[in-house]
Amino acid sequence: MQKVAIIGAGRVGETTAQILAEQEICREVVLFDIREDVPQGAALDIFQTAPFFAFDTRVIGSNDPAAMQDAEVVVITAGVPRKPGMSRSDVLDTNVKVIDTIVSDLVRYAPEAIVIVVSNPVDVLTYRVWQQTGWPRQRVLGQAGVLDASRMAAFIAMETGFSARDITTIVLGGHGDSMVPVPRFCTVNGVPVSHFIDAQRLDEIVQRTRGGGAEILALRKNSSAYDAPGASVAAMVDAISHHRNRLLPCVAILDGEYGEQGIAMGVPCLLSRDGMKRIVDLGLNDAETAMFRQSAASVRADIQRMKAP
Ligand code: 2OP
Repeated sequence: MQKVAIIGAGRVGETTAQILAEQEICREVVLFDIREDVPQGAALDIFQTAPFFAFDTRVIGSNDPAAMQDAEVVVITAGVPRKPGMSRSDVLDTNVKVIDTIVSDLVRYAPEAIVIVVSNPVDVLTYRVWQQTGWPRQRVLGQAGVLDASRMAAFIAMETGFSARDITTIVLGGHGDSMVPVPRFCTVNGVPVSHFIDAQRLDEIVQRTRGGGAEILALRKNSSAYDAPGASVAAMVDAISHHRNRLLPCVAILDGEYGEQGIAMGVPCLLSRDGMKRIVDLGLNDAETAMFRQSAASVRADIQRMKAP
């Protein structure tokens, strides 16, 4: 892949850029931000790690939206983060305005791009980008499930002492308190996680996963999480860039899948060169379906709250 543009040179944007460069996931990373000099400073700082990590990816900072010209992937991290005690929905009104401005630049400069929304509330804003661009849903995704699943995997690794790399987890639904971790599909190298952790502890891990972002925000105090979010976005870009056909939980526009329509939520997606190739139906049981419906209701309430375009 030649070019990835990251809109918003905050901590998540910067971390994503660092990983994309370090892992040479693309030839060029453009960091865009409206704050004067900020993206240029971040880009320089990142490129100065090239001798250590031995990468040839160019990292460029800019205040000119034209810098995203012809990017194959555009990652949107811009917007205000929540403060301790706030929910992701509390930043909706402000961030919708930010997103709408970005969309007009996106359509103008990178009309063929695959877009990955990271700004919160991510499900609602992914839906907004899809509505406003009119692009096929294959090219409009959001990042949430990869992060939530990585948090759950980390908690299982901490609980069992097993290597995190052997742990596979899946988290569906909206990226909020009603997200749907699915322990039934979580394994340690293929062995169901219930073999190692009893039902009560597993339930505590599910709850901790749901509050995973708030836990870090409460501890860091002046910042939301950014290391694992950046790594999660980079994993999605890598799947697209290398045409990997990875099965990753992503925010996608639903058109009847999981019994939902007119909404964007986390579902297992096949990610590849063209973006979301298909949504995989896991055949949720009744209890899981009930949680998914509840999560959908809270995302839908925010979508309806959003002013009509
Ligand atoms: C998180 O979960 C900020 O939504 C982000 O950490």
